[in-house]
Amino acid sequence: MSQPLITLDFLDTPTLPTPTVEATTHAHEPSGAVRVNPTTRTGRTRKLYIESYGCQMNFSDSEIVSSILFEQGFDTTEELEGADLVLLNTCSIREKAEQTVRMRLSQINSYKKRSPGMLVGVLGCMAERLKSKFLEEEKLVDLVVGPDAYRDLPQLIQQVDGGQKAVNVLLSREETYADITPVRLNSNGITAFISIMRGCDNMCSFCVVPFTRGRERSRDAHSIVQEARDLVAQGYKEVTLLGQNVDSYKWASADGTEHVNFAQLLERVALISPELRVRFSTSHPKDITDEVLHTMARHENICKYIHLPAQSGNSRVLALMNRTYDRPWYEERVQAIRRILGEDCAISTDMISGFCSETEEEHQDTLSLIDFVQYDMGYNFFYSERPGTLAARKLEDDIPLDVKKRRLQEVIDRQQLHARARYARMVGRVHRVLVEGRSKRSEDQLSGRNSQNQVVIFPKGTAQKGDYVNVLVTSTTGAALLGEII
Ligand code: SAH
Ligand code: SF4
Ligand code: F3S
Repeated sequence: MSQPLITLDFLDTPTLPTPTVEATTHAHEPSGAVRVNPTTRTGRTRKLYIESYGCQMNFSDSEIVSSILFEQGFDTTEELEGADLVLLNTCSIREKAEQTVRMRLSQINSYKKRSPGMLVGVLGCMAERLKSKFLEEEKLVDLVVGPDAYRDLPQLIQQVDGGQKAVNVLLSREETYADITPVRLNSNGITAFISIMRGCDNMCSFCVVPFTRGRERSRDAHSIVQEARDLVAQGYKEVTLLGQNVDSYKWASADGTEHVNFAQLLERVALISPELRVRFSTSHPKDITDEVLHTMARHENICKYIHLPAQSGNSRVLALMNRTYDRPWYEERVQAIRRILGEDCAISTDMISGFCSETEEEHQDTLSLIDFVQYDMGYNFFYSERPGTLAARKLEDDIPLDVKKRRLQEVIDRQQLHARARYARMVGRVHRVLVEGRSKRSEDQLSGRNSQNQVVIFPKGTAQKGDYVNVLVTSTTGAALLGEII
C-alpha cells in the first residue's frame, strides 16, 4: 500500500511570499513544510524513514542524524511502509506545530500495528519539551531523543532493539556536532545550510526555543570555514550560516589566542571564493552591529538581505516580550542598514499578533512599523501560548482568538502591500541571479534568486543550474520577478 499523502492544510502556514511558484526553504522559518529525507541505496541492511518539521535547524539536524545512522547500517527511505525505524524530528514553536505531530503519530500507529518490527522515535524540540511524558502519552513511541543527544542514538537504538524504551533528552553546553558532516540529502547541489551555533540565551517571554534547544554555543570557526570550503570544492555556490541569533556568534580557540565574532566569521567565509554567495539567518535586532553591516558592504558576495524579526512595533509590548530593544532602537538599526547598505538591501521580519494585553493602538504601532521599514517579506503569526515560557507563567493570554486572527490578517495585508512595492521597484533593472534549477511553472524556464533573496524566473537559454546569469527583469507577479537573460 502506498503511503498516505501528508496533508499540509492543518500545518502552520507562513503568511508571505512563500511564492506558490518556487518556494525556497527559509533558513529561519518555522514553515509549514514537512520534509522527508530521500531514499539512499547503498546496500545497508536497515531502513530509516525520517520526517522533519519546524525550522531549517531541524532539517539540518535530520541530515546529521542520517549521517550518524548511516554509520550504523541504515539507509534512508522515503517509504514509511517497510521502514525499520521511523523518526519524527519535531517542532514546538506553536501549538499547531505540536498538534500536527500528534496527528502524524496516530497515522503512524496504524502502520506500526501492521508491521510489528517497526520502531518509532521522536526527536527534536517536542522530544525535549515533553521528555519521558511522551512515552506515557504516546504508547507507540519507543524512543525519545532531544536535539543535543543525537550522538547517543546508536546506543539508544540498541536499547530499543533489546525491547526497552529509551530516552535521552540531556541538553549540552558544548555539543555543536562540529565534526559530523551532514549527508546533504535534501540539497539541490547548489545551496547549502551550515549551522554555526546552537541554542539560544535570549529568553523572549513567548518562546519555547531556549527550553528545547538549551544554552547558546558557537561552533569552532575553523570547522565552519572548512565545511564551506568543502562545499565549494563539491560545486556548491551558496551557503547560509544558520543560528537562532547569529549576531551573537562568539568563538575563542582553546588557548585563548584567537577570538572570532560574527562579522569576522562572515568575512572569513566570504573570502573563500568570490563565486560563493553567503547568506545568514537569523539576526537579532539587539545584536546586529555596524561592523556586520560594513562587512556586508565590503563583500559583493555577501547577499544584501537581512532577516530582522521585530515581533511588535510597540515598545511596551516589546518589553513584555523581553526582546530587550524598543521601537526607537529597532528603527535606528533599520536606518543603519539603509545608511550602510542602501535602499536595495532587503529586510524581512517576523511579527506576533495578539500577544498578552496588546491593545488596538499597540497593534496599530506594528502596522506603522511595517510602513516605516517597508519590509520585503514577513513571517507573521498570532500568539500561541507555550507552556513553561515566561509569558505563560506571568502573563494572561487574554486576546480572543478572533481578535488575534483579525489583527494578524491586517499585519499580513499591510506587509503584502510593501512586498509588492519592493518587487515592483526591481522591474526594469538587471539582476545577478544564481540559477537553482528548473522553474516549476515550465520546463523551459529556470528559477533562481537575486542577492535580495527574491525569486527570479526566466527562459533558460543555455544557462545551467549553478550558473550566475544577468537577468533583465521585465515584470513581477508580486511574489516573483520575471525577465530574461541578457
Ligand atoms: N530566533 C529567532 C526566532 C525563531 S522562532 C528570532 O529571535 O527572531 C521564529 C518565529 O516564530 C519568531 O520570530 C516568532 O515570530 C515566532 N514565534 C515564536 N514563539 C511564538 C509563539 N509562542 N507564538 C507565536 N509565534 C511565535
Ligand atoms: Fe526565541 Fe527569542 Fe531566542 Fe529567537 S531570540 S529563539 S524568539 S528566545
Ligand atoms: Fe526550530 Fe521549532 Fe525547535 S522552530 S528550534 S524546530 S521549536
